Amino acid sequence: MRRESSIHGQWSSKLVFILAATGSAVGLGNIWRFPYIAGENGGGAFVLIYLACILLIGLPIMMAEITLGRRGRQSPINTMATLSREEGLHRAWGFVGWLGVAAGFIILSYYSVIAGWSLSYVFRAAGGAFAGLDADGVRGMFNALVSDPERLLAWHTLFMIMNVLVVARGVRSGLEKAVKFLMPALFGLLLLVGYSMSQGHFMEGVSFLFKPDWSEVSGDTILLAMGQAFFTLSLGMGAIMIYGSYLSSRASILKTSATVVSADTAVALLAGLAIFPIVFASGLAPGEGPGLIFITLPMAFAEMPGGLLFGTLFFLLLVTAAWTSSISLMEPAVAWLVENRGFDRPMAAVIVGGIAWFLGLGTILSFSLWSNPIGFSLTIGGEATFIGGTLFEMADYLTSNIMLPLGGLLIALFVGWRMTQRSVEDELDLHSRVLFKAWYYVLRFAAPVGILLIFLKAVNLI
Ligand code: PHE
Repeated sequence: MRRESSIHGQWSSKLVFILAATGSAVGLGNIWRFPYIAGENGGGAFVLIYLACILLIGLPIMMAEITLGRRGRQSPINTMATLSREEGLHRAWGFVGWLGVAAGFIILSYYSVIAGWSLSYVFRAAGGAFAGLDADGVRGMFNALVSDPERLLAWHTLFMIMNVLVVARGVRSGLEKAVKFLMPALFGLLLLVGYSMSQGHFMEGVSFLFKPDWSEVSGDTILLAMGQAFFTLSLGMGAIMIYGSYLSSRASILKTSATVVSADTAVALLAGLAIFPIVFASGLAPGEGPGLIFITLPMAFAEMPGGLLFGTLFFLLLVTAAWTSSISLMEPAVAWLVENRGFDRPMAAVIVGGIAWFLGLGTILSFSLWSNPIGFSLTIGGEATFIGGTLFEMADYLTSNIMLPLGGLLIALFVGWRMTQRSVEDELDLHSRVLFKAWYYVLRFAAPVGILLIFLKAVNLI
């Protein structure tokens, strides 16, 4: 059965959906997470595996998620429940929706803290705080910020309020208006790449990013690359599914997905190309960790002509990009509260924001009071491994590398193996037999087998 629209509203055009989904995809994942994870994992080989995951796993699953969302036209929890009922399947498939909501809360909790760092850097950049700092100076500045829980709490709270304000206003006047600001962010990044190219270390950055050293690749590297692909495309937790539920029945799912995936990948690569030349030029190490962009970029802004303006603009755009992503992290849970618990939207947004805000305290303290890793040692395949970390590290690892790929796997299995081919074909509406066959094949075989193999490899079982 084809539903015309969701009770929460509908995007005013296909273009707005593309903007919204790109807004969800492009965020801290591209500009903050991608460079630091690539840096910690040796660059080239990691980047190539990440790109392969984007194409073979990310793109087909994004299409599947949008297809589900548009067919169910409700929050992911209810979409999964309704479609299972319609297709005569077990109710347990509703678990996919719940898994996504849980992942959304955990991601939002730390995402907002990192977005808070970015907010604070807007004011530092504008106030000229980077002038004359060397590598140790910028690192000192970053460490002073993250080890000050009260300051982090203030920025985290502010950012969460910004999210609640948008989500409370609903699809048309909240989400839709917010995403129209995203495009300048891409432009701002281009400027930074231009500067990096002029720094003489550009080729070093290029070879770090694209020259693979396969000897460094472990099962964990592959898992991290796949996790990054899911995280950056906002897949596996229902964000793209719910955005799909606000998409008109006439829009092409293939074209919109391809556009979103290309834009997202372009921004991540641009961010890498902007950051690594600066890393090498200033004698820093690529494996700096979560502070990487907050340590490298201020140095570039301190030196470049007009750095005060560009620096401020850049961090402002980073906040905007983070903002259009985090609203999509809230939306699945908010829509469910409205559908099933009878809350009005503003109240639902306050509840979801409040819970994520509270969970975020764990991340804030991960950089000061609770910075000692917690966990245990486990022997897998004859190798002793420490499992654990700070609360921030665990939240990030658990969501990106386990919950999102697991959600994606279940979505691929549901659409590929459990729904009837007719309903899938009808909703996806590809207008080409060959394309449909190719997509269906990848979704049924390549993507799930790939995810499973990567999971098995990560725990040394193969
Ligand atoms: N894709 C976003 C980013 O790259 C993060 C995100 C993950 C958003 C999952 C929604 C869902 O920053």
